[in-house]
Amino acid sequence: VAELEAELDLARGEADAARRTEAERRSLEERLRLTQKQESLAVLASGIAHDFNNLLMGMLGNANVVLRQLPDSSPLRYRVQSIETAALRASELTRQLRAYSGGEALVPSDVPVAELLGDMGALLGSLLPHGVELVLDTPSGLPSLCVDATQLRQVIMNLIVNAAEAIGDRPGRIHVRARFVEANRELLSRAVVNHDLPPGSYVSIEVEDSGQGMSPEVLARIFDPFYSTKRASRGLGLAAVLGIVRGHGGAIIVTSQVGRGSRFQVLLPPSAQLPVHSQAPAESGPTPSGGRVLIVEDEEGVRSTLRVSLEYSGFYVQTARHGREALRLFAERDARFDVVLLDLTMPGLSGGETLTELRRLDPKVRVVLTSGFGREESLERLGAPPPEDFIQKPYPPAELVKKLRAVMRGEPEADRRAG
Ligand SMILES: Nc1ncnc2c1ncn2[C@@H]1O[C@H](COP(=O)(O)OP(=O)(O)O)[C@@H](O)[C@H]1O
Ligand SMILES: [Mg+2]
Repeated sequence: VAELEAELDLARGEADAARRTEAERRSLEERLRLTQKQESLAVLASGIAHDFNNLLMGMLGNANVVLRQLPDSSPLRYRVQSIETAALRASELTRQLRAYSGGEALVPSDVPVAELLGDMGALLGSLLPHGVELVLDTPSGLPSLCVDATQLRQVIMNLIVNAAEAIGDRPGRIHVRARFVEANRELLSRAVVNHDLPPGSYVSIEVEDSGQGMSPEVLARIFDPFYSTKRASRGLGLAAVLGIVRGHGGAIIVTSQVGRGSRFQVLLPPSAQLPVHSQAPAESGPTPSGGRVLIVEDEEGVRSTLRVSLEYSGFYVQTARHGREALRLFAERDARFDVVLLDLTMPGLSGGETLTELRRLDPKVRVVLTSGFGREESLERLGAPPPEDFIQKPYPPAELVKKLRAVMRGEPEADRRAG
């Protein structure tokens, strides 16, 4: 924004000298307004996602505990499962919100684009309405892209779902195409994000449909979070697409004609230089029963849910409401905790400060850090050497149990993540 503002000032001055046209000034002002809007929406989105995560943790955890107490024959199981399903769906929405705000950490790896599209085509093809034909066009010889596979899948999925919805019940066709393109300045300047990328070769992924198309008025708003023309839809699909493509240094170009259809083109730099570290699900191995866990968490709901849930899984659990209490418990006990589950953001001592003090008391302390932010961002915010492991909220309790056990077994995190 500062840059655009400076440019705008300059533009104003030059306009006085009548060196800039009125049209140019307008377009700069429009871009400044759009950038400011996107930035403030991103802040809002990440705030909402953060607060919602804590609430969802409470719901998921409590539903899980109730499910485990209900006998298999209970007619209430179905109700509780619906609560769980709804909470999981809500956590999917907060994931889209975080993707929009750029709060989701990138976990890049070499992704063979053609294969990824093929897999998704096979998966989605069977889910689309009968009249909708999905055509994949992926030439051989496309390079692997250094991208976050999960996020790229989310982009393609969101675009294909929209395409199918634009076609509706009528017969129609969705064309998904990946190819190399030479993008010139003119094409790139029409991009919704990163409209000043340098001209050159890009990998282009296009999703084109023969659906109802969009008017210019609709087109102008489609990437706004919560903008939707559909009934009972959240309007977060394209917002997430925007955030993810922006995070990958790519561009999006949309063309559409009412009654004819739309085309979404995602351009990605072929040699995206993103820091590489792979992440695979934690392995499950022999699980020793029990273990002493200290939960440090300021949210009452999350704390009590975790306690019940972990006690159920056979852990001995102590809880602390903040860093100071954790340190007191830690120093008091002669028997040590096997693992500490530490919340990142707390009033008083922060997660990072607490961690540093805990290490001072016991250099061998094992810690699993938790927060609603992604891994990268959390570790950055921690401001201390990294803990043994990290788990992003909201998570299913079973996943936490797996992680705690792995950490207690002393498996280095790299082993668990490399898979
Ligand atoms: N392929 C498409 N054809 C026509 N309109 C589209 C297409 N994709 C998106 N849109 C428009 O953009 C809006 C926002 O899309 P999205 O962010 O995915 O939210 P949602 O699908 O929940 O409405 C849609 O409501 C629709 O009006
Ligand atoms: Mg959508």
